[in-house]
Amino acid sequence: MASVNTTIQLIRPGGQVTSCSPALKEAPWNFDSAPVAEYGPGSSMFDVAPVDTPRQGEIPAEYRRASDEELDRRIRAAKATLGDRLVILGHFYQRDEVITYADFVGDSFQLAQAARARPDAEAIVFCGVHFMAETADLLSGPSQSVILPNLAAGCSMADMADIDSVTECWEQLEELYGTEPDASGRVPVIPVTYMNSSAALKGFCGEHGGIVCTSSNAATVLEWAFERGQRVLFFPDQHLGRNTAKAMGVPLERMPMWNPRKPLGGNDAEAIQDARVILWHGFCSVHKRFTVAQIDRARAEHPGVRVIVHPECPMPVVDAADEAGSTDYIKKAIERAPAGSTFAIGTEINMVQRLAAEHPEHTIFCLDPVVCPCSTMYRIHPGYLAWVLEAFIAGEIVNQISVVDSVALPARVALERMLAAKP
Ligand code: 13P
Ligand code: SF4
Repeated sequence: MASVNTTIQLIRPGGQVTSCSPALKEAPWNFDSAPVAEYGPGSSMFDVAPVDTPRQGEIPAEYRRASDEELDRRIRAAKATLGDRLVILGHFYQRDEVITYADFVGDSFQLAQAARARPDAEAIVFCGVHFMAETADLLSGPSQSVILPNLAAGCSMADMADIDSVTECWEQLEELYGTEPDASGRVPVIPVTYMNSSAALKGFCGEHGGIVCTSSNAATVLEWAFERGQRVLFFPDQHLGRNTAKAMGVPLERMPMWNPRKPLGGNDAEAIQDARVILWHGFCSVHKRFTVAQIDRARAEHPGVRVIVHPECPMPVVDAADEAGSTDYIKKAIERAPAGSTFAIGTEINMVQRLAAEHPEHTIFCLDPVVCPCSTMYRIHPGYLAWVLEAFIAGEIVNQISVVDSVALPARVALERMLAAKP
């Protein structure tokens, strides 16, 4: 099966396969110099990027003009020159044209662990998005440099919660709940941030008795939090928070949503007092595209199909699916299935098409018939990878992601709590 990028280049108006934006055909550097910060074509293209979102300067023309073959030759040569001095990490959602160079491919939890598994490597080149590279910086050694090939590869969901709004929310909650623990020693509220968040928010959790979770350990982390607190403030992904808490038996009416633009998040004091999980008003625009109608159609067209979706999907989609789980869960479910199985998958298209190519013994397709990759993962292209690797060989570290100590220390506390929390 062709890569997503090849598929996109072949899409013609009026044809059977459609994409969400014709601009996906363009090289990502065409968007680096946009006058307003934007996520670029793909599922997050209509999300508003914060004004202070990192921008990527234009990379040298030699990389923008190089053919695919030349970039391939240069990246392989750079990798051979650097040897063990370099490790390249790739998230499952990254395009195939970049994943082919990764030394390790995984979900955000596995990549966080991989970042600390190679203390000998001087450079960790992270082919994923900004919060993942920050996490790698937090978990790697002080002499290691983490490099994000394109600084514009952020995450629109992570950007939906910022430190100022979360601090403001926290102050309102403290005013309402006070800070005293109850008779069993549980504090009024524990902050839990999804891995998909800035290092500043991880630091906030570290400082306020909180913790980080990923989609592969969210239930374990919520249990950890409920042992220590009467309630949880969960940010930024409302869907992961709701889906996980609901599966643990928390009733929907005890999960108010916090809209940072409204006083008390748009709730009355009673609802916040009665809350078990306060859900931040954030979402992933990739996973928001999946619908129950797509699942109904998959079941009608493929009797016996196994529908697996990522827990960032809205609750009705998770409820209508057979299973929900992290990217690694999806991968393992497919690997363990008997040959001849049919899967309809609700997650990012690059991962789904790669799984389909790797498993010809199964029928695997994406629930969403429209090709619409994660806009920010898509901003990384071999041209940027060749640029950062050759710069490193020349002694220059470009696009280094480095978290300041005042944030890194508490953020590591929250991450270490997560790594220590056992299911
Ligand atoms: P995973 O933790 O499953 O890798 O998901 C990360 C992500 O960004 C999903 O949108
Ligand atoms: Fe962020 Fe969604 Fe892309 Fe994951 S898929 S990196 S949550 S925008």
